[in-house]
Amino acid sequence: MIDLSVEFVGLSLPNPFIVGSGPTTGNPEKIIKAIKAGWGSVVVKTIGDSIVRKAVRPMYGVFKRGRDLVAFENLELITEDPLEAWDKYLKVIKSEVKNPIIVSIMGGSDYDEWVKLARWVEERGAGAVELNFGCPHGEPERKTGAFIGQHPDLVFQYTKEVVRAVGIPVVVKLTPNVTDISEIAKAAELAGAKGVTAINTVNGVIGVDIERGTPLPDVNGYTTYGGISGPAIKPIGLAAVSKVRTSTQLEISGVGGIFDWRDGVEYMMLGASTVQSVTYTMIKGFDFVREWEKELVSFLERKGYSSVRDLIGIASSKITSYEFLEKVTKRRTSVDEEITSVRGEVYG
Ligand SMILES: Cc1cc2nc3c(=O)[nH]c(=O)nc-3n(C[C@H](O)[C@H](O)[C@H](O)COP(=O)(O)O)c2cc1C
Repeated sequence: MIDLSVEFVGLSLPNPFIVGSGPTTGNPEKIIKAIKAGWGSVVVKTIGDSIVRKAVRPMYGVFKRGRDLVAFENLELITEDPLEAWDKYLKVIKSEVKNPIIVSIMGGSDYDEWVKLARWVEERGAGAVELNFGCPHGEPERKTGAFIGQHPDLVFQYTKEVVRAVGIPVVVKLTPNVTDISEIAKAAELAGAKGVTAINTVNGVIGVDIERGTPLPDVNGYTTYGGISGPAIKPIGLAAVSKVRTSTQLEISGVGGIFDWRDGVEYMMLGASTVQSVTYTMIKGFDFVREWEKELVSFLERKGYSSVRDLIGIASSKITSYEFLEKVTKRRTSVDEEITSVRGEVYG
């Protein structure tokens, strides 16, 4: 009998699949639907207080090749609903959902508000609190979100204050828009965080309308740098998870471009004990998770593993230095041979 259950920051989950923080965890109906569909947990859409404001429209953009989505952009901010609404929402969720849930929060540039929000969600039954130090648009202009996540000293200070104030586990959501993500993760660990979620969206521009010379998404003729998600960011997420795994003891929830159960396994093999999906749930809904569970079980059986825990981190020590690769590389192929082989992989 294959065991899909996992522990993440002390929370017991029936499987490693979590709906990450975003529009598909933005109200109780969606959260209850996700859990009923079989997801192990959810990270609730980021809740705030002083920084809540209306998001611009349109706030989404897509980059496709043929029919396939390469990348997705959002200019969405944290929830537009005030705390009074979330007070009601969290009660409804608590009464309908038995799985532990993680609640994402974002305060302003003052850490007192982060502390207040963390206590507020703890009092309302959150199993863990996720600190959104990763949102790359809108919030950094106001010295919060990814602004905090780009400075190890701020990550340390804000995390430490929250850890001191609450009894529930604290998870830090990392931004990939940094020079060295290990330094940020180490600051979170030193401050007492139990885990990290890696990664938030990658700063980018989804495209330009060349007929009108307008960058996208087109907000009345203008745009700003947004958050890129989807398949294009998976390699960035995998590297981030691997770096956190090898530089800290933190538990990791992997996220970024997980569109398939295999993507989740890749994240787990590099060190994630749970994996999150957001963009794919926006496109496909929640029901595919049962299929992912089934596929994961047959993969584990085929490979002779008894538990999903057997996968965690098994590939991480195989990411090493270039110098080491120079020693173990076997055959020297020409650049042209390599290009031919890549062409074969792309075109079959
Ligand atoms: C429309 C949208 C809204 C998001 N809102 C939040 C948010 O409120 N808080 C947060 O921590 N991350 C937010 N994210 C980031 C996701 O949680 C996730 O880190 C990122 O999208 C990468 O995963 P994916 O490729 O599976 O979408 C959002 C992502 C999208 C696409």
